[in-house]
Amino acid sequence: MIRFHTLLAGLLAGTAAAACLSAPARAAEEADPAAIVAAQFAAGGDHKGVRASGAKGVCLTGRFAPAPDAAALSKAPHFAKAVPVTARFSMGGSNPKVSDKAKPVTRGFAMRMADPAGDMTFVIISAPMFSTKTPAQLLEFLQVRAPGPDGKPDAEKIKAFAAQNPETGRQAAWLNARPVPASFAGTDYWAVHAYTLTNAKGEKTTAKLKFVAADKATLTDEELKAKPDSFYADELKERLAKGPARFDLVAILAEPGDPTADPTATWPEESRKTRTLGTLTIAAIEPDATCDAATFDPVADMPDGIAGPADDPMFAIRSPAYAVSLSRRAN
Ligand code: HEM
Repeated sequence: MIRFHTLLAGLLAGTAAAACLSAPARAAEEADPAAIVAAQFAAGGDHKGVRASGAKGVCLTGRFAPAPDAAALSKAPHFAKAVPVTARFSMGGSNPKVSDKAKPVTRGFAMRMADPAGDMTFVIISAPMFSTKTPAQLLEFLQVRAPGPDGKPDAEKIKAFAAQNPETGRQAAWLNARPVPASFAGTDYWAVHAYTLTNAKGEKTTAKLKFVAADKATLTDEELKAKPDSFYADELKERLAKGPARFDLVAILAEPGDPTADPTATWPEESRKTRTLGTLTIAAIEPDATCDAATFDPVADMPDGIAGPADDPMFAIRSPAYAVSLSRRAN
């Protein structure tokens, strides 16, 4: 459980203080969100005024319209009537100049579905799994990727970490085995964590959530070579000039034994029952300021009727980490 004072301590003292801590305190510090955010910037480039991840992105507006039977699964107001959405597509990592052609980099999709009773926020990626299963593992995953004095990360350190933590290679292997999306709107996105949906009768359903692109588009290696490093923003402008981009929100229903606490572990989607919860349409590009003023917080901004996993340690820590990143880029 991440406590607010842990966040404050991290913010005020920084990671240098870790050197003075006892071993158990140091272990706690290792999972400190401020230490993780510092490691994100160390690994991806210490750029100012940008997000610790998803530094390069496009802000958007749209609308979510629930499917007729979504309310049977969740009592959240967002599943009872259409709501406006602020969203942002992005490239993973803290480098605002990362190439849109990069292969083992997740494309990100953050969205805030607004309702007077409270927002429903998802911050999701173009892969069905995350790269690490605990905050301490994430910290080390990032630390071994920080460039040394020669400007490059130590390939041997990365290899040794991967050998000891094989689940951390699943996401890159999955991305490397697939073509690069031709569009931010041309690929599916997964919320990765297991969610619990609760309906008005108090009945609970465990599900993973996936936003399925209506118009999937990928690039062959030849097509990719011919592209400039930045083409997603222009492609999106052209695409949206012709009409909205559409995604179906699909709940993949858990079966007994499906892991709910480990975001590096996937469920066999093809053999799981699914329910369509609604349709998200992205209609227009918004000024960056609309998305940059606050953070998309997938933990705090969850209405009654849907909840992230209490037993997945990667879920709760996202809220304070996103707050650290916001306070850093806002100052
Ligand atoms: C399943 C797990 C995760 C997914 C799918 C995910 C996805 C994303 C995406 C798409 C963004 C860009 C958001 C935007 O455009 O505003 C983002 C930002 C960020 N992520 Fe994650 N993330 C995950 C876990 C984590 C964890 C465990 C941490 C740290 C403990 C973390 C730290 C951050 C930070 C600091 C930002 C920048 C937030 C901001 O400045 O607004 N993420 N993440």
